[in-house]
Amino acid sequence: MPVFLKNETVLITGGSSGIGEEFAYQLAEKGLNLIIVGRNSERLEKVYKNTKRINEKISVEIINFDLSQDIDLFIDTIKFFDIDHLINNAGFGLYGKFVNGNINLYNKMISVNIKALTLLSYFYSKKFIEKNKGGIINVASVAGFFPIPHFVVYGSTKSYVYNFSMSLWAELRKFNVHIMCLAPGKTKTRFFERANMKNNQKLMSVKDVVYGAIKAYEKNKPLYIPGISNKLTYHLIRRIFSDKFVAKLLEKTF
Ligand SMILES: NC(=O)c1ccc[n+]([C@@H]2O[C@H](COP(=O)([O-])OP(=O)(O)OC[C@H]3O[C@@H](n4cnc5c(N)ncnc54)[C@H](OP(=O)(O)O)[C@@H]3O)[C@@H](O)[C@H]2O)c1
Repeated sequence: MPVFLKNETVLITGGSSGIGEEFAYQLAEKGLNLIIVGRNSERLEKVYKNTKRINEKISVEIINFDLSQDIDLFIDTIKFFDIDHLINNAGFGLYGKFVNGNINLYNKMISVNIKALTLLSYFYSKKFIEKNKGGIINVASVAGFFPIPHFVVYGSTKSYVYNFSMSLWAELRKFNVHIMCLAPGKTKTRFFERANMKNNQKLMSVKDVVYGAIKAYEKNKPLYIPGISNKLTYHLIRRIFSDKFVAKLLEKTF
């Protein structure tokens, strides 16, 4: 059972904001040591202070690293830490017509959302198999369950994360290494502002998303979709509507 045990160490990518930041706070409360990665130094400092305020007994390290850059260098930097759980959370999207988007941003998005997640999963899967314990939470999205025009690259990176995680879950379960895919729907973070996307729908709170995710991980679930309407979307779209129908509908409405 990959329960988050007191005194274990968790590496969180994208811990400087939103879902990753909330993981840091809720895991600090549970007595986990934290290694938090992000790019924004001020925000990382803030998260450091808050986690220490929540639990002064834990050890907290903050690492400023751009995960769209050299991941081998990043792994070299962190390989001496003894890590028990990895949360591959860093990621971003870009809303708009595919051909109007910035190709450099697509390139970075693929590097962060897919490449960094895959290379870190590879490195830590081997470590966790050796230890015969540990696990990884990969943050995908409801947007990864169906074709999503105007969010073409982002949705596709999250489809990868979903399939990657479920496949790896099946391979590693016999080693007592647990992989869980967290697939949130719209959640109240800085994501939309950064994705250049307006949102008029109700957003889930990060607290609820992360609270549910930690419980699901501790119960050994391979997939956690927070919120009833997101779960419903997942089941309806996968079981009732064709991809062709959904793609045409969303091209007009999303
Ligand atoms: N919010 C939603 O509705 C929603 C829904 C489904 C899935 N998700 C997924 O949830 C995850 C977290 O996003 P969020 O909603 O919490 O958004 P957020 O508030 O914008 O947080 C994104 C985090 O990712 C980090 N990050 C982005 N690019 C990075 C890079 N190149 N190198 C290192 N860190 C990088 C950011 O660090 P800096 O700020 O320091 O750059 C930040 O800590 C993402 O994978 C996102 O795709 C979000």
